Amino acid sequence: MMRLVLAGLAMVVAGMASEESSPVTFAKDVLPILQKNCQSCHRPGQIAPMSLLSYQEARPWARAIKAAVVTRKMPPWFADTSYGHFVNDRSLKQSEIDTLVKWSDSGAPEGNPKDAPGPIQWPTGGWGIQPEVVMDLPAHDVPEKGTLEWELIALPTPFKNDTWVTSMEILPGDPAVVHHICFSFEKHRPTTVYNRYEWVQVPRDETGNPTPGNSGFSELPGMIIATRDVGSTEVKFRPGRPTLRQTLDFCYLPGASYDDYRVWDAGKLVPAGSDLIVSLHYTTNGKAVTDRTRIGFTVAKTPPKKKFVVQGSGEDEPVIVPTKASARAAFASSYNPEFAIPPNEGNYLAPPMDITFLKDVEIVRLRPHAHVRGKSAQYKLIYPDGREEIVLNVPRYDFNWQLSYGTALKLPKGTRMHFEFRYDNSVNNKFNPDPTRWVYQGFQSWEEMMAPNLGFLLDRDADPASLMSVTN
Ligand code: HEC
Repeated sequence: MMRLVLAGLAMVVAGMASEESSPVTFAKDVLPILQKNCQSCHRPGQIAPMSLLSYQEARPWARAIKAAVVTRKMPPWFADTSYGHFVNDRSLKQSEIDTLVKWSDSGAPEGNPKDAPGPIQWPTGGWGIQPEVVMDLPAHDVPEKGTLEWELIALPTPFKNDTWVTSMEILPGDPAVVHHICFSFEKHRPTTVYNRYEWVQVPRDETGNPTPGNSGFSELPGMIIATRDVGSTEVKFRPGRPTLRQTLDFCYLPGASYDDYRVWDAGKLVPAGSDLIVSLHYTTNGKAVTDRTRIGFTVAKTPPKKKFVVQGSGEDEPVIVPTKASARAAFASSYNPEFAIPPNEGNYLAPPMDITFLKDVEIVRLRPHAHVRGKSAQYKLIYPDGREEIVLNVPRYDFNWQLSYGTALKLPKGTRMHFEFRYDNSVNNKFNPDPTRWVYQGFQSWEEMMAPNLGFLLDRDADPASLMSVTN
């Protein structure tokens, strides 16, 4: 009996000894996790406030790292793990969280630098991709305060020949004022004027809110178009319609600065002589600045196998069959006059929206987009045989993180995707600028959006026309 107890005790001691002899160290255990899950943002020139490249840089943050990963605040990832499967899932496994906690609790030791993996070769110059072709957007003054509408500008693309672009990135000059920038490639039209900003002058009251029904989504009679030449401060007004059309082949949103199609052996064909139509949305920040944003591309030497197409891409590739959900609205969200969030409503379900796929499709990206009152987003498939499947559930949408969820959904023709977005217009939403207002759809952050933003892969030569139809 005695011998047995002693043996047990000896085993416990041995267990402790072995744990002590292999403590969790930065070099061996922590750095690989930081490289895989954190350094994409936590390195110089990226959006995170501190670098986590080296032991010296990470050591002072050991406690904060523990707190951030235990609460799952970091890395940012909002998909409910019960649904779907995401190829770019950057959330930590429980074992990785345990490792970071143990490291912090045991005094954050460095360990033997020889155990450390080699550093990752991150792109230089603040880029997320290493671009082969870079173009500068014209410098843009952003005043100290006020509301800037979404501005459009046409520029010639830097490509002289038909070019397959395989990745693209927008490097904002001043991320504090760049709310988003989107662009698409369009065939050059003889009437297109380069280097001139153009926007819809939305009638706004003194608080900056649009007068009811004037969100800029709808093409109203009496619409006023404003233009300003690059380098000039003079704004000209005329009644009529915009000459440039907004489409969203690619967008920079805070937290989503580049698209890389190389992972799918895919690209985007830019015919020679195309224009770049850029949509700029600046938000004033209390300080007048001049923004100098750049766009970078990598290009294919031989045509890739597939092409990447987004819902609402350029007019040369009308993936959406126009329905009552107007073509202008469908790219960014489906404009619905019934979308109206009452004051103080904490759980508003937007009029649901459905997309029906008219061909077999392969969807590789889901990117829910709403504004500051966005609360949750859910994507559900209804297959032709009636079977239903939730493929993305974001129970706590956070406007500050515009995340893309990478999927691999091969769907037969006739499949329907059903979207449910909820909004919080109550005081409990700390980002809510004014819970006493009715909120309608619109382009500004304090108006709302319901944009499911789907990304498709097609065979290189496939015709993307009429890929889907949208119904409210
Ligand atoms: C997609 C970009 C991104 C990734 C990936 C990311 N972070 Fe962050 N992190 C940020 C940004 C931006 C902030 C500052 C804003 C904030 O706190 O939300 C931040 C803040 C932090 C903070 C400070 C929190 C505080 O309380 O002030 C810690 C600690 C942190 N991150 C740790 C990590 C760790 C550890 C990982 C990987 C496991 C990681 N982050 C991955 C972008 C990122």
